[in-house]
Amino acid sequence: MLLGAAALASAASVAVWAAVAESADEQSGTAPAGVGNAQRAWQNWTLNCQGCHRPDGTGTDQTAPSLAGTVARFLSVPGGREYLSRVPGVAASALSDADLAEVMNWMLWRFDKEHLPPDFQPYTAAEIGQLRTRPLRLEASQIRADLLKKADASTAR
Ligand code: HEC
Repeated sequence: MLLGAAALASAASVAVWAAVAESADEQSGTAPAGVGNAQRAWQNWTLNCQGCHRPDGTGTDQTAPSLAGTVARFLSVPGGREYLSRVPGVAASALSDADLAEVMNWMLWRFDKEHLPPDFQPYTAAEIGQLRTRPLRLEASQIRADLLKKADASTAR
C-alpha cells in the first residue's frame, strides 16, 4: 500500500520533471518573429496562462479549449486575429501590452506553428493595446464557434 503510493508519487514527479525539461528545450530554440526573449515568454505563459490552458496548451473540458494544433487556424479567417486577443483571458491579463504581444507570438509558434500563415505579421504591443480595450465577455464562445466554422469551410475547399 505505502510502497505503491510512494511509487506513484515518484512517477508523478518524474512526469513533472520531464515536462519541465521539455519546456526548457522548447524555449532554448530559435525565437520566432515577435518574440524578443523566448524564455521570458515561456515564463509569462507559465505564470499567467497555463493554469487554464495547461503547460502544453491542450486545456481541459473544465478550463479552456485546446490551443495545441488549432490556435493559429483563427488567423486565416477574417476577425480571427482580433478574436485571439480579445478573449477575456488575454485581454484582461495582468501582463503589459509588450509582454502580452510576446506571449501571443510565442504561443502561436509553440502550440500551432503548422497553421501559422506564411505571411503572418507578429502582434505588436500597440496592436494588443488597442484590441484589449474591447474585451469579449459572454459572446466569446459564440464568436469562437462561428470562426471555427469558417476555418473548417476554408480548409475543406
Ligand atoms: C481563467 C482561465 C483562463 C486564463 C487564465 C487564460 N485563458 Fe485563454 N481561454 C480561456 C477560455 C475559457 C477560452 C475560450 C474562449 C472563452 O470563452 O473565453 C480561452 C481562449 C483563448 C484563446 C483563443 C483560442 C480559442 O481556441 O478560443 C487564446 C489565444 C488564449 N485563450 C490565450 C491565452 C493566453 C495567452 C493567456 C495568458 C495571458 C490566457 N489565455 C489565459 C481561459 C483562460
